[in-house]
Amino acid sequence: MRVLVVGGGGREHALVWKLTQSPEVKKIFCIPGNAGIAALAECVPINVDDLAGILHFARENKICLTVVGPEAPLAAGIVDLFQENSLLIFGPDRRGALLEGSKIWAKNFMAKYKIPTAAFAVFHSLQAADDYLKKASYPLVVKADGLAAGKGVLIAPDYEEAALFLHAVMEAKIFGSAGDSIVIEEFLQGEEVSVFAVTDGDTYFTLPSVQDHKAVYEGDRGPNTGGMGAYSPAPVLTPQMLREVHKIIFEPVFKGLRAEGITYRGVLYGGLIVSPEGELKVLEFNVRFGDPEAQVLFPGLRTDLFPLLYETARGNLRSLWPPEWEAGATVCVVLASEGYPGAYETGKEIRGLEKASAMQKAVVFHSGTSFQNQQVVTAGGRVLGITAWDADLESALKQAYQLAAGIDFEGKYYRRDIAHRALVRK
Ligand code: AMP
Ligand code: GLY
Repeated sequence: MRVLVVGGGGREHALVWKLTQSPEVKKIFCIPGNAGIAALAECVPINVDDLAGILHFARENKICLTVVGPEAPLAAGIVDLFQENSLLIFGPDRRGALLEGSKIWAKNFMAKYKIPTAAFAVFHSLQAADDYLKKASYPLVVKADGLAAGKGVLIAPDYEEAALFLHAVMEAKIFGSAGDSIVIEEFLQGEEVSVFAVTDGDTYFTLPSVQDHKAVYEGDRGPNTGGMGAYSPAPVLTPQMLREVHKIIFEPVFKGLRAEGITYRGVLYGGLIVSPEGELKVLEFNVRFGDPEAQVLFPGLRTDLFPLLYETARGNLRSLWPPEWEAGATVCVVLASEGYPGAYETGKEIRGLEKASAMQKAVVFHSGTSFQNQQVVTAGGRVLGITAWDADLESALKQAYQLAAGIDFEGKYYRRDIAHRALVRK
């Protein structure tokens, strides 16, 4: 089988890495890929937003299955386009992708199908939103409706900050038309956890729980990033809570999607929050694997990833047994460029990558890397995902941090406290 993976970050490197272990996969292409992916797959320089170009490539190269990593091509309708052309693709169609692509659509959907989430109000005009903010109590959360590359959410401590963000989004249009409308919602206190469900629109399986670290600095301080590190499983989610997640979240979500006439084939990412009393609510849905979450999930997957993705895309997930997972723990420490998530420099030479090959239970996934004069250099804010696994979390962390210290580039920055919540829980 010839497989095409769309995207070029750590998540796609992890997907490609796992797919190379499948006896059914003969060749992998990646659009556009990165310097790490290039060692495992043929990277093709097409923009992920060029849907017609990707379709043309898949047709010409007899691709059996296309797997979409990021949200933008899903929201733009890549799945609809492939399905209209009778090509198999893993991911939800344009309507399914609204769960991530429009926060208003997602919140209304959750309200309609009684899925627990923060109380919210929707605004289409700056004036009405500003009036609301003036009378509100704080903290509260302001969210741009559309896709904003993870930057569309502000937790506002007071009116001044909320109003500043509101004007930037709705007046200065820092996120373009993604800021035409906004959601203002109740601030929820608690610990975050992510649960992923793979579904073909009928059957679904959940994957082990993961906890991401969104804030750039240790102690969860500073601005939010795409994720500075992750670990799995996340003990905050007890087996009893997981049963609850099925009952009050995934079951009604998939029932609701069917009732809306949406056949959702792909992965649904539930970004959840557990209150101090153990109550579960949905913070957000994403319609793709998380990054770095994917980097800590695939190393622990004992079963072949290819049939899982293939049968999902075919609507035949029922034919498979639930995937099996290794016991133990996996962690990922992200090495970022100094300045991220703000401005940062690129083109810095990366040294020490070969050290990973000496370790049996570790792999370095590339996020933002490229080649310059045959040398691997930094090319993004998040550069590498140092991933390690072992029988217990402490040993996995020790190996990941040992490797993180041994790989170097100018301006390397990483958090030293990945998994801190799980460590104190023990
Ligand atoms: P979203 O893109 O909606 O997931 O928001 C990004 C991040 O903002 C989440 O992962 C949380 O850390 C935080 N967040 C979003 N909504 C809320 C909320 N209602 N209460 C507290 N934190 C939130
Ligand atoms: N790590 C957060 C995300 O993938 O959305």
